[in-house]
Amino acid sequence: MPSYPYVLLSAAVSLDGYLDDTTPERLLLSSPADFDRVDEVRASVDAILIGAGTIRADNPRLLVNSAERRAARVAAGKPEYPLKVTVSASGELDPTANFWHTGGEKLVCTTDKGAERLRRTPVAADVVALGAELDWRDLLRHLHEVRGVDRLMVEGGGTIHTQLLQQGLADELQLVLAPLFVGDPDAPRLFGPGGYQEGRLRLLETRRIEDVVLMRYQPTAPGTGTLPSAADRHWLALACELAAQCPPSRTAFSVGAVVVAADGTELARGHSREGDDPVVHAEEAALAKLAPGDPRLASATVYTSLEPCTHRASRPVPCARLILEAGVRRVVTAWREPDTFVAGADGSGLLAAAGVDVLVLPEYETQAKAPNAHLLP
Ligand SMILES: NC(=O)c1ccc[n+]([C@@H]2O[C@H](COP(=O)([O-])OP(=O)(O)OC[C@H]3O[C@@H](n4cnc5c(N)ncnc54)[C@H](OP(=O)(O)O)[C@@H]3O)[C@@H](O)[C@H]2O)c1
Repeated sequence: MPSYPYVLLSAAVSLDGYLDDTTPERLLLSSPADFDRVDEVRASVDAILIGAGTIRADNPRLLVNSAERRAARVAAGKPEYPLKVTVSASGELDPTANFWHTGGEKLVCTTDKGAERLRRTPVAADVVALGAELDWRDLLRHLHEVRGVDRLMVEGGGTIHTQLLQQGLADELQLVLAPLFVGDPDAPRLFGPGGYQEGRLRLLETRRIEDVVLMRYQPTAPGTGTLPSAADRHWLALACELAAQCPPSRTAFSVGAVVVAADGTELARGHSREGDDPVVHAEEAALAKLAPGDPRLASATVYTSLEPCTHRASRPVPCARLILEAGVRRVVTAWREPDTFVAGADGSGLLAAAGVDVLVLPEYETQAKAPNAHLLP
């Protein structure tokens, strides 16, 4: 299962939801203190990505302006500037744009056709061709695995933000609301039409910065099928945190579980040995909080730090069976069950054989194992 960078979308909008106006000059939406905050965020990431449309419209430099922040990056063993990445299908990029001639390393992610064009009209950047069409998951995997990007800041424009959010690939949205109106229907909007997650995003923070307001949101909707969404990772991280809350045991694992509806609503959570039940399992504890036949279960996802059990001494029905009986069709887990108590347990296999989509996200295995270290060789 691939792992992706943490993807942070950053944008400023007018009160009527526009990213810019239609004049040739860039519309300044943020306040000076907020530009400095953006500088700080840039200094904290491994790469900054913008669409080719923003290079054409704004001709940005995308620098870390603060010399102190650049020095701190260097002192921490990082490049002075984050990698600058742009995305273009056409490869029609102006070689004289500021983007190529300021800051550190640059990368163009493009299609085979775009790469061909860039061979004829090169820009001062590495070019990676990602096939006939560009797939965002391939791009994110490339940035993570080939370029070592763990944190990616995406600074627009709207076409890019819309795709990443609609495809469930954004971990966080940092939105600044500026107290002015654009009022021109031809101006670019932050988010275009299309299919977004159902339900509500989670509000992480609001912050007043001079006359603008920063709002930080986290998407909440589980992915579909075996494709992970960014929200899948957040819910699985929560399941791992719940595992750390279990009363300790020498004879059973500490596990956390969360049941989440398709629209991103948390339905129930549980952890091993919860309350005054010394043998209850995490998935069992969570599912017991929901009415049998709850219609939301059929499209829900169960997140569990350790894969559901197939055999248990303490109760007759193992958790994999409880999940099937509840009608859940999607399970995300961090860790396959070791042979500590049951040899050859294969909860993921049992569920998959019954038609459940099972995802194992091994990047959370260390976190899932931590409260169980005393049970492992
Ligand atoms: N207020 C803010 O915070 C903020 C921030 C950034 C930008 N903006 C504004 O946003 C506007 C630009 O936004 P925009 O939506 O027009 O452009 P954009 O999102 O910056 O870039 C769109 C371009 O990216 C490439 N692209 C997008 N999706 C792709 C895919 N799946 N595969 C391959 N290439 C892909 C295409 O380039 P090719 O055409 O080369 O194929 C496409 O034309 C400007 O007015 C700018 O001022 C505002």
